[in-house]
Formats: sequence, C-alpha cells, structure tokens
Amino acid sequence: MKKFSIVIAGGGSTFTPGIVMMMLDNIDRFPIRTLKLYDNDGERQAILGEALEILLKEQAPDIDFSYTTDPETAFTDVDFCMAHIRVGKYAMREQDEKIPLNHGVVGQETCGPGGIAYGMRSIGGMMEIIDYMEKYSPDCWMLNYSNPAAIVAEACRVMRPNAKVLNICDMPVGTLRRMSQIIDKEPKDLEVRYFGLNHFGWWTSVKDKEGHEYLPQIREYVAENGYLTKVEVDTQHMDQSWQETHKKAKDLLAVNPRYLPNTYLKYYLFPDYEVNHSSCTYSRANEVMDGREKTVFTAAKKIVEKGTAENSGFTIDSHASFIVDLARAIAFNTHERMLMIVENNGAIANFDDDAMVEVPCIVGSDGPEPLAQGKIPAFEKALMHQQVTVEKLVVEAYITGSYQTLWQALTLSKIIPSAEVAKNVLDDLIVANKGFWPELS
Ligand code: NAD
Ligand code: LMR
Repeated sequence: MKKFSIVIAGGGSTFTPGIVMMMLDNIDRFPIRTLKLYDNDGERQAILGEALEILLKEQAPDIDFSYTTDPETAFTDVDFCMAHIRVGKYAMREQDEKIPLNHGVVGQETCGPGGIAYGMRSIGGMMEIIDYMEKYSPDCWMLNYSNPAAIVAEACRVMRPNAKVLNICDMPVGTLRRMSQIIDKEPKDLEVRYFGLNHFGWWTSVKDKEGHEYLPQIREYVAENGYLTKVEVDTQHMDQSWQETHKKAKDLLAVNPRYLPNTYLKYYLFPDYEVNHSSCTYSRANEVMDGREKTVFTAAKKIVEKGTAENSGFTIDSHASFIVDLARAIAFNTHERMLMIVENNGAIANFDDDAMVEVPCIVGSDGPEPLAQGKIPAFEKALMHQQVTVEKLVVEAYITGSYQTLWQALTLSKIIPSAEVAKNVLDDLIVANKGFWPELS
C-alpha cells in the first residue's frame, strides 16, 4: 500500500496529539511515511513537537517526523494537509465570547458575533496556508476542520474556487455517535440524510444498512433527554457546558419536531436562555484553557521531562477517525458517504446554488459528490437563508474592507437584536481585533 506524507497545519493545536495518536491507531488502513507539524507559533508547537518526537520514536520509528515554522519545509512533498488552525488562539476566542456577552448578546466561538469575529481572523490565515500548499505541493489535498467552518468554506469558494480543500466538521460525527448509542448500534452501521449549513442543520433520516428508519425512536429519546447519553462518547464534548448543550436539544426538538437538530441551533433559537446561562467572566474559552489545553500541554511537558511517552496521558481521539476516513476516500477512491460542507448546486433543491451547505456526499478521488436532499420546508429554509447571507456578507466585508457590510452582517444575525447593538458590538470587536482583521472603512 502507498505510504503518505502528511502535514498538520496548526501543529500547536490541542487536538494535534489526539489526531496523531488516532492516525497511529489507523496506520494499517492509512500508512504514513512522513509526518510534519506546521505552526506560525514555534514556541507553542515545540512543546507538542518535542513530546510527539519521543512518542513516535517509541511507537512508529519508521515515520519521518519533524516540526517547523518554515512554510517551504512544511508544505514540500505532502499528499495531505490536515488543517486545524485557530488564528488569534484562545486569547482571542475569549474576546469573541466576552465582548458580545458584555452587550447582552450570545458570545460563542462559531455562532453570531463571536463566529463573525473569528471568521474575519481565520480567512487570512486559511488563504495563506492554502497558498503554501498550492505552491509547494500542487497535488496535495487539504482536509480542513478549522473554524468557523461555514465562513471559512464560503471564503474558499469565493477566494480560492479551484483549491483542493475539503471542509468538514466533527459535530455531526459526534452527535451521530450519540444517536448510535441511543439505538444500540455502531455509527458505521448507520446512514443519514441531513441538510443545513455548518453548525446549522437537521437530520431527516437515520437508517441502518437494511433500510430500517430509526428517526422516530431517536426522536422519542431526544424529546426526553436531548442527546445526553449514559456512556462517554468522546472527550471533546464532555465538559459541563457541553452536557447542557446536549440536553438543550430537547427544546430544539420541541420547536421543530419533524427532524433531529444540530446542537448549535440553540444559539439561534434560544439566545436569551443562552445569555442568561453564560458568565461574562468565565466563558467556554476559559473552560477549554483550564481543561483541554492544560491537560494536553502538561502531558507533553511530562513526556519531555521523563524522556518517554509510556503512560503519557496523550489519548487517542478515536472520534476524529473521520479524518482518516476522508483521507482514505481521496487516496483510495473508497466512495465513503460523509457529511461535507460543499457548494449547494441543487443538492437542496429549493436553496441557492451558491450557498455552502452541509449535506451527505459520496467522497472519492475527485472529491465530494453531494447527494440530493430534495426540497426543504419553509421554517428551516428561512432560517438558513438568513444565516447563509450573514456568512456571505462577512466574506464580502473581508474582501472589500467595508465597515458597512460587516455591520449589515451583524445586524442580520438572528442572534443580535438590533442594528444599534450590532454596531456597538462591532466597534468593540474592531478594537480587540486590531492587527488580525483587515482595516475597515
Ligand atoms: P489551538 O489554539 O490549541 O491551536 C491552534 C493552533 O493554530 C495554534 O497553535 C496556533 O498557533 C495555530 N495557528 C494560528 N494561526 C495560524 C496560521 N496562520 N498558520 C499556522 N498556524 C496557525 O486551538 P484548538 O482548540 O486546538 O483548535 C484548533 C482548530 O480546530 C480551531 O479552528 C477549532 O475551532 C477547530 N476545531 C474544529 C473542529 C471541527 O470538527 N470542525 C473540532 C474541534 C476544533
Ligand atoms: C473546542 O474548542 O473544543 C471547540 O472547537 C468546540 C467547543 O468545545 O467549544
């Protein structure tokens, strides 16, 4: 079997060790010859890089491992770039969450004003790594799961329409794992139909390979418990705030009982509840810094101190194995069925062709082929249209540097109550994002 060369962009990410461990766990299905980490923060990346060097020497000495901040070294001779960058890191995530909250508005990483602010930062960073990839390894594919995925995907569509970038999200994967537990199945046994935007969609069918429909059974459970399950299904979505989010799916279902909701819809359908249950001084960013970031970086430092990765504390992110499935689909033309963020072009029959939507696709060597999801009802369509227009306006504002356009984007966001609040939030975000956003006028 061919062995592949991989670069992880955002090598200093808290997800890097889990993904490397996951790739080692899948090495028979997806052999690796070279693994490189790339980050523009050399100091942060080196902590994980040094630890992973030790781990790989012990567990997979055949893999040529390195870490670098030099784009040419990172992107030369690679088949796949797995991208998970966070432009501005957690310090800016904290601002994205707290600035809107100080104005009485939901502060969230990817939804509403927080997501818009993060999007305005991410676009430049994403375009930069796409350009490096195209310059140094023109045949390489980027598997991108950097957030906010909806805005990043729209920016790719408009700014780099021919780039080999696949945009994917782990949230539907995580929720499907929960659904599979509810009905006592394996996720791989299930096939779904789904439509929406990223962090903004609905499952319309969950069937096993024999064609049995489980949606009514799952719905009955979610109506009582949300997506809260008894057993831990992944490590990423287990903190207290996530437990509340899984539970809240119960109320989302009550609004729209026909389909099973993506958990992120809570920020759009219950923004007042969300604000009342958030703290302006301790947000999700703080929870992640005190939790996942501390755990991962402490484990890395211990490995380096002891000189061995035995009992390291690095855990396999098994829930991220969809990344290997996606790479295999491209590399081996497996025609795996996966939810991807793609240009609509009729997949949702009564929705704009040029919207970046999240739908099931068959993925092979030429990339994703979206599966037709038919027409969608008025309620979901109207919500999606409002939200996709916000995402398009953000990308337009980034390209044109227009204050007015970004103000309109914020004003249109369902999460923000008025143009006045939108302006106040925007003005604070501009100050906080100096040096990260293009100058607006
Ligand atoms: P993190 O801050 O720990 O890591 C991100 C890394 O990206 C940092 O080391 C940072 O220095 C680096 N970086 C920032 N800008 C860069 C640039 N221009 N070039 C190269 N590197 C750059 O963040 P994290 O919490 O581990 O999350 C990483 C990313 O993955 C985020 O975008 C997050 O939203 C995303 N994420 C996506 C999914 C999904 O399935 N879509 C799931 C979880 C996290
Ligand atoms: C993360 O940092 O884990 C996010 O990408 C999602 C979350 O947990 O808020």
